[in-house]
Amino acid sequence: MELLHKVKRNYKAQFSDDPIMVKASGRINLIGEHVDYNDGFVFPAAIDKGIIVAIGRNEDSCCYATALDFEETYRFGLDEVSKQNNGGWRNYLLGIIHELQKRFLPLGNFNMVFAGDIPAGSGLSSSAALENSIVFAINTLFDLGLCREEMVKISQKAEHEFVGVQCGIMDQYASMFGKKDNFLLLDCKSLDVVSYEADFDSHELVLINTNVQHTLSDSAYNDRRNVCEKISSMLGKKALRNVSEEELTTLSGKITLADYQKAQFVIQEIQRTQRAAICLENKDMAGLGNLLFSSHEGLSKEYQVSCDELDFLVDMAREDNGVIGARMMGGGFGGCTINLVKKGEGQNYIEKVEMAYKNKFGVTCSVYHVSISDGTYLLNE
Ligand code: GLA
Repeated sequence: MELLHKVKRNYKAQFSDDPIMVKASGRINLIGEHVDYNDGFVFPAAIDKGIIVAIGRNEDSCCYATALDFEETYRFGLDEVSKQNNGGWRNYLLGIIHELQKRFLPLGNFNMVFAGDIPAGSGLSSSAALENSIVFAINTLFDLGLCREEMVKISQKAEHEFVGVQCGIMDQYASMFGKKDNFLLLDCKSLDVVSYEADFDSHELVLINTNVQHTLSDSAYNDRRNVCEKISSMLGKKALRNVSEEELTTLSGKITLADYQKAQFVIQEIQRTQRAAICLENKDMAGLGNLLFSSHEGLSKEYQVSCDELDFLVDMAREDNGVIGARMMGGGFGGCTINLVKKGEGQNYIEKVEMAYKNKFGVTCSVYHVSISDGTYLLNE
């Protein structure tokens, strides 16, 4: 609520009319990492941290957008929308407008103020939340009639074209369609979804942020995607979702071992995600925890998107009786781990980890208890 008031207050101080207010959430992902762009299954949920946007029409000849967290205001004309070098947050906004203009949608000039409480680089999808909050706000303001699925695709395209990350659909989907107290088992090929109540029995989810984000993570992400596409096309398939481990063996010796292992990881991670849904249904928490640990092992050793800090946190989790599963979450190379912790034993573990992490890396880690929330919605009603 504090964030809502901050954004609204700033908007009214600058522009005085009553704005439309929109919130878009960040997301966590239980399991199913780096499989969305392989048409696989993912298991995300929207969280209570997010981005809040205030928007209203203006009669000027240009638009104004204020990013409160950066204390920056950007003035631009709708007829001069193009990707900016080192544009930062501006490229998310411009990327969305560009996509809307490509669809010949009738936009007018607007004033916008936004701020968020998703820690940058935490792997909790502040990017998707920003894109969704902007497209949802503009759609509402100008009555464009876009449905949620169209908005998800616009957000993803903006990220591809203006931000330069060839992301899958998971983050934008979860941030748009998230449902309070539910995880979404999403088939990234058909976009069919099944909701699972987030009931972990006598366990809870704890996030630990390494507070590091290693450089080159965007280009490493795009590299991984290229490897997957190359391998699936060598097998005459559109995506690795359609490739079995047996089929992959036919490429043994024809591709590098490192690439082979990456494809194998993806095939196995898709299976793990489907198994996780069964565990959740049967309240098999031990089974779910083991899947999280195996997912991390694959992400670290085979897919090679982890880093020392993430591996250290997961190794500590493995050694602690209070934690039954843990893994890195999101794109990798930093950000958060997600931990399945026995209720009541979390505090001990957290204190131990905080101290050990500080001793090892000289940086403090942050601990978040997030609640699972709705995705993107109007705050005015
Ligand atoms: C980032 C991308 C997602 C997904 C994850 C890894 O968050 O935006 O599309 O690929 O990494 O699972």
